[in-house]
Amino acid sequence: MSTLHRSRAPDQSSQKFRQQSLIEQEPGDLLRFFRAVRGKSRDLAEPLSDADATVQSMPDASPAKWHLAHTSWFFEKLVLEPFAPDYRTFDPSYAYLYNSYYEALGSRQPRPLRGLLTRPTLEEILAYRAHVDAEMEKFWLMPPSPRVMELVELGCHHEQQHQELLLTDILNLFAQNPLGPVYRSRDDGAVAGSAPPPPSC
Ligand SMILES: [Fe+2]
Repeated sequence: MSTLHRSRAPDQSSQKFRQQSLIEQEPGDLLRFFRAVRGKSRDLAEPLSDADATVQSMPDASPAKWHLAHTSWFFEKLVLEPFAPDYRTFDPSYAYLYNSYYEALGSRQPRPLRGLLTRPTLEEILAYRAHVDAEMEKFWLMPPSPRVMELVELGCHHEQQHQELLLTDILNLFAQNPLGPVYRSRDDGAVAGSAPPPPSC
């Protein structure tokens, strides 16, 4: 299996946010943190095909596409819909597809069956993410309340947790492919990992 991701300089927005409590944050700092976290998820999705992002390697894993959508659903359902005036839900059916275990927020696609969601496509989920990001930027033009800031910070940490899960689940998926697919090459350009020999007949 290949190296999952390249080593990169720590993101300054994330570092700053870890060092201070929410109460001490300015809305602009939180927005920068939000952008950094959301951008990181886009970056993690970049090497994946629609098929890579759709397959669920085992019942305890989730498709990358599901992680990408679920983390956007969090901001839509808990921040934009209740607090942003005139917000229009991207697609009402996503509430069922991308809820996880939030009982108060309705029923959901059973976890072991998340890999059956061949639609929406990865492209559509990236459009969903872009919609949520744009609406969050618009929403931030009004001074956010402390409650909203608390929820957005929570959503950012929630998304970081799902970024780790996305990588773990891709590792498990690619490790089971006899072709030994490479998620991402190393910084030096060398291809990490190699395919195991094919099984004997
Ligand atoms: Fe979650």
